Amino acid sequence: MCGIIGFTGNLEAKKVLLGGLQALEYRGYDSAGIAYVDKFGIQTVKTTGKVSNLLEKVEQSNGLDSNCGIGHTRWATHGGVSDTNSHPHSCGNVTIIHNGIIENYHELETELAATGRHPISQTDTEIAAMLFDSLYQGDAVDTIKKAVTKLEGAYAFCILFSDQPGVIYCIRNGSPLVATHATDGSFIASDMVALIDYSKEYFVVPEKHIVTMTADEIVVTTLTGEVIAPKMLYVNWDMTAAKKGGYPHFMLKEIFEQPDSLRNTIMPRIKKGHLPDFSTDNIPDSLYDGINRIIITACGTAMHAGLVGRVLLEKLVRIPVTVEIASEFRYGDPVLDSSTLVITLSQSGETADTLAAIRLAKEKNAKTLSIVNVKGSSIARESDYVLYTHAGPEIAVASTKAYTAQLSCLYLLSFHYALVKGMITEEECANYIGHLQAVIPAIEKTLTLDKTIDEICQSLAKTEDLFFIGRGLDYALSCEGSIKLKEISYIHSEAYAAGELKHGTLSLVTEGIPVISLATQSNVYSKMISNIREVRARGAMVILITNGHLDVEETIYDHHIALTELDDLFAPFTAAIVLQLIAYYTSVHRGLNVDQPRNLAKSVTVE
Ligand code: AGP
Repeated sequence: MCGIIGFTGNLEAKKVLLGGLQALEYRGYDSAGIAYVDKFGIQTVKTTGKVSNLLEKVEQSNGLDSNCGIGHTRWATHGGVSDTNSHPHSCGNVTIIHNGIIENYHELETELAATGRHPISQTDTEIAAMLFDSLYQGDAVDTIKKAVTKLEGAYAFCILFSDQPGVIYCIRNGSPLVATHATDGSFIASDMVALIDYSKEYFVVPEKHIVTMTADEIVVTTLTGEVIAPKMLYVNWDMTAAKKGGYPHFMLKEIFEQPDSLRNTIMPRIKKGHLPDFSTDNIPDSLYDGINRIIITACGTAMHAGLVGRVLLEKLVRIPVTVEIASEFRYGDPVLDSSTLVITLSQSGETADTLAAIRLAKEKNAKTLSIVNVKGSSIARESDYVLYTHAGPEIAVASTKAYTAQLSCLYLLSFHYALVKGMITEEECANYIGHLQAVIPAIEKTLTLDKTIDEICQSLAKTEDLFFIGRGLDYALSCEGSIKLKEISYIHSEAYAAGELKHGTLSLVTEGIPVISLATQSNVYSKMISNIREVRARGAMVILITNGHLDVEETIYDHHIALTELDDLFAPFTAAIVLQLIAYYTSVHRGLNVDQPRNLAKSVTVE
């Protein structure tokens, strides 16, 4: 949600801010704006629409001779999409950009009305600007300290004071901010993708610490005035990873990166002669001691990875596993204690509901393990243990390589857990690991189906409703296929457990409706075939996806995609690739913005 960038130093601020906003646009793309400091004071340029609209507006406004400024790309929460509601917002001496939600903005607005300050926008952010201005008497740090005692909710702010040119103040609570001081000056942003051109070294701004940025240094202080030295981190990917690299969309590039992202995630954890090893992740075998129940909780696609993880963990470790949507789990009064292991999954590591789920689990003494892609993110920092997916930056809003990397961690975890608990022998474990490694070339082969899938999607693009059906692991995959298609093609779709269709939903299956039927699991294959016959008898257009080794009768499908043969347990990896490509090409054929679908944002840091 919302992208933030701030720079002060010896470069042209326009270049840093606009370049950063383009890199951050995946976080929000309703509107964009910058504020910069020049000899006349603080100037603001903002507009609805994409960063490219802002670029045009900036080009039209002469000047912009500045070395200090802040920039924002918005995902609207409070107040519609309009120029007025776009950030930055100013009041008196203060100009700010904000990511997050100020929950008590209404009460603050009433209080501030008594001081003669009235907003012109409908945003909570402008109220925050009014609050900072009302408290400001020349001491920025003191102002921020006082404001923090009054602000409720999540925030990351960059603040300019008109009488302090060249200085940017920042503070965050819940919403992400990373910063770095490099040879050209001081930089801050919501995400390292905006700063990687300038430095590979950075720090995560600690929550509720005040950051004072000048061209020469970045000073971080606690709210009681103590200066601290933040822990430095290093990015292990380079700029090419954050660019399209010749692909028409980030999503397609990220789909094709999956052999690499899986290699990077799996291989460093295979040691001791093909056995899983989490010692470099600092995850001790004792993590599993005394655990009699696992809850996997996450949102969206990450939660769908959890559905696959449940099957694996229950099959191999023989421990009960439930999968909960994080936004339900956090308010659901779940039964938790020290014998529960709560596993969370998140690409961004900042998803508000998932973070709240971890906090709840810890409050109730459960052990927490997170599977996260972004190093040093809130979820990673607050969990007892972290398994990082090494998928590299994922820019497209639709999650692809993060999902399969999450699956690979869940597979490794299941093998490791089962081995430690004596549920499988070393030999069996090494055999599973061999199958997991085989997934990588199988995905490479599956990717060669992209032209075939592209053709099939020409007809899919014309539909307004469709179904995904499957059983067992294939049902978990159906859920993922359905969300992927919905979010980027805007086609209504439902994922159904194939055996459940006839309990109501079959009435929606009519002549010509596409039914994407996943049949990769031998143990329920004949049952799936019967379900496929049922939809075909009602005129459905069947797109059948099978594991390579299964026999298929030509009479039961309109299109057939045979996956590279894998052990059934590992078919979700190749099936996921096909489903991602189906969503991608359908969106392309509908002429939509694949990477930035309407109403969505990459990192959901609000409830
Ligand atoms: C995936 O395609 C979606 N954009 C979305 O469901 C996403 O997976 C979800 O918001 C969770 O995000 P996270 O992995 O960053 O926590």
